Amino acid sequence: MNRLAVFLTLPVLCLTSALAGQEPGAVFVAVCAKCHGERAEGNPQIMAPSLAGLPGWYGGLQLEKFRRGVRGKHHADLPGAQMQAIASSLTPELVPALAAYLADLKPVPPSAPSGADPVRGAGLYTEICARCHRFNGQGERAFHSAPLTVLSGWYLAGSLRKFREGVRGYHDGDPEGPKMREIANRLGDREIDDLVGYIAALAERYPPGEAGRRRAPQ
Ligand code: HEC
Ligand code: HEC
Repeated sequence: MNRLAVFLTLPVLCLTSALAGQEPGAVFVAVCAKCHGERAEGNPQIMAPSLAGLPGWYGGLQLEKFRRGVRGKHHADLPGAQMQAIASSLTPELVPALAAYLADLKPVPPSAPSGADPVRGAGLYTEICARCHRFNGQGERAFHSAPLTVLSGWYLAGSLRKFREGVRGYHDGDPEGPKMREIANRLGDREIDDLVGYIAALAERYPPGEAGRRRAPQ
């Protein structure tokens, strides 16, 4: 938590003017990389997920939620507050540009939590998640459902717990969050780990990107 506290002191309000007119790649390196890593590979120590290869439509949707303050404002969500403070300093024009920049980076697949049972996870995933997140875990733009195979494993598990505890998806201006809250309410910690174990296996079987998307289920 100490590291998080250090970041809280960032001079966020100065960002907007400093960033005006800059290329998204330069903004990423100057502002985002210190938490998410130079190649957007993520940093578990400060709970900042991998973002490389996140499709632009989803990265843009989440950045905009943070920017408008409908995500990351819950009092029990310190990592969310870090991200919210940064996003609130972005201009609306920078949001799609940054999201497009992230989409072009090479994805980092999630790792399975230790002790996860991917076979049990497969059963749960097929029964509950696949209809929205699809057989390959790559999400569905029409439903705004997240691409799961490019996000860090520890982050997927943490997000599911946040939805379950109502720390994410609680705001009236966030229509997608409540759908995930309803789902996560049914999951225990063990089931969450097993699901993430299976999502890690999916990332290997259907590597995110064009080639992975074109392959049929086996
Ligand atoms: C102070 C550290 C910090 C900085 C700087 C930062 N982030 Fe984040 N970011 C986080 C954390 C922590 C989270 C996870 C929030 C949560 O758990 O809800 C996050 C989450 C995100 C997400 C949501 C991913 C998802 O699928 O849910 C996106 C997109 C994102 N950041 C993009 C950016 C961009 C673009 C920048 C630069 C403009 C940036 N971040 C700068 C810490 C940071
Ligand atoms: C009814 C459709 C639906 C179902 C079923 C569903 N999801 Fe989701 N999921 C969504 C949507 C929509 C979002 C985006 C929420 C948001 O914008 O915050 C999401 C977001 C997520 C996220 C957060 C990703 C991030 O960016 O932080 C995770 C993790 C997740 N879902 C996992 C699952 C798992 C695991 C299951 C099965 C147990 C599941 N979902 C079932 C629609 C669904």
